[in-house]
Amino acid sequence: MSNYKRIASLKTADDFASYIETAGVKLQFDRELQHGTDSPLGRPYQLDGFKIGNRFCILPMEGWDGTEDGKPSELTTRRWRRFGESGAKLIWGGEAVAVRHDGRANPNQLMSSDDTTVDLENLRKVLIAAHEDRSLSSDDLLVGLQLTHSGRFARPNDKKRLEPRILYHHPILDRKFNISPDHACLTDPEIDDLIGDFVKAAARAEAAGFAFVDLKHCHGYLGHEFLSATTREGRYGGSFENRTRFLRELVAGVRRDAPGLMIGVRLSAFDFLPFKMGDDRRGVPEHHDGLYPHAFGSDVEDPLKVNLNETFQFFDLLDELKIKLVCISAGSPYYNPHIQRPALFLPSDAYDPPEDPLAGVARLIEGAGELKARYPQMCVVGSGYTYLQDWLPNVGQYYVRAGRVDFVGLGRMVLAYHDLPFDLINGSRLQTKRLCRTFSDCTTGPRNGLISGCYPLDPFYKEHPQAEQLKTLKQQLK
Ligand SMILES: Cc1cc2nc3c(=O)[nH]c(=O)nc-3n(C[C@H](O)[C@H](O)[C@H](O)COP(=O)(O)O)c2cc1C
Repeated sequence: MSNYKRIASLKTADDFASYIETAGVKLQFDRELQHGTDSPLGRPYQLDGFKIGNRFCILPMEGWDGTEDGKPSELTTRRWRRFGESGAKLIWGGEAVAVRHDGRANPNQLMSSDDTTVDLENLRKVLIAAHEDRSLSSDDLLVGLQLTHSGRFARPNDKKRLEPRILYHHPILDRKFNISPDHACLTDPEIDDLIGDFVKAAARAEAAGFAFVDLKHCHGYLGHEFLSATTREGRYGGSFENRTRFLRELVAGVRRDAPGLMIGVRLSAFDFLPFKMGDDRRGVPEHHDGLYPHAFGSDVEDPLKVNLNETFQFFDLLDELKIKLVCISAGSPYYNPHIQRPALFLPSDAYDPPEDPLAGVARLIEGAGELKARYPQMCVVGSGYTYLQDWLPNVGQYYVRAGRVDFVGLGRMVLAYHDLPFDLINGSRLQTKRLCRTFSDCTTGPRNGLISGCYPLDPFYKEHPQAEQLKTLKQQLK
């Protein structure tokens, strides 16, 4: 349990400003909120001639609730319906969809195959219909699909058993996740095949009517692991050019076989050393001597410090590849969740926050701001806003108004208060009782084999039979 000040206790703009100062973080916000379609958050964005109706983006959020053959369930469909009702005009991927079975993060993750294409199309249609049911036009709604292979964190057959597909032996993560030194790494020809699977999945996404695919490069999954594969030999490791060959080949394949699709990339723009629980339960970095070249976007001499030099190179490459859509995230939920999804209460299997979660939020938002300032031609979506709770709209409005981000991405907040964008743009009072307070039950649930959802605040999950199971589990884990 941490003793950082609760955001809900910061009632006035002066309270919030003075807390930002006390916490010593760099974060800006607007004191007055504006509403309506002319407001900074309500205004459209032009992406290559396509008008995206406002500046809210729903971030990908999986629920561990698909069928074993990779199709959506009623629960998945409910989530996508709510994404549509949210009022946000950019849907970044819906949720991670594995391009093949061995790349699933859990046996209930959605999967692309010829058998699931119609079901994924249906999810998209449900989302659009729900949007229109709120009397919102879908002409300015952009919906993409996130494609992934879970790599080191694959659990395709059993929720509790990792079946890692790795690119290289990692000095810390192998030990942390019990990967033996003789565990086989994916070979270059196997990677070539996997690229083919991504391209097939993209073609199916196009057939299912999605406007873009996200070629996921974040959170420790396979796409992200390429970026830190500095010690891998062969065509896909070592130099920056080799570590980004995966992306370049994916893009070439998608452009060839699904020419109508736009391409986006969700990127962990920086990473840190993995963390573990210290004696007092607070997170501490894992021990590492010498240079650490495995945290993309951090300093090799001090891997607890952001260094965006390679991230800039990655953006140069995106620019060369004519990819404009980029969503900024950081780190990984498996080994440093506090930099990826800042929370007052981290998931049951994690440590207590090693820093004020506001510092994590500021790092993500300012990092995205730095990238946007350097690459104004890119359409930059930010993440990590949920912890801001009551002050999320004020911070979001500032960064969009100042041109330091194009879209405010919403993750956990949408599970709790899905139509916050609708309320805000329409000038309705913020429903503070529905604001996510970052209890992390949406992550603790699935880490213990349950479905994900907002158990504390969404009445549907509050009353779900698994809510009781979760309560018991949390008692046992204390
Ligand atoms: C339950 C849960 C599921 C998530 N699933 C995905 C996913 O499928 N793909 C992805 O890129 N990020 C995923 N994320 C990360 C979120 O998209 C987002 O980056 C993170 O929650 C931080 O944003 P927030 O502060 O608005 O919650 C997930 C997060 C949570 C809590």
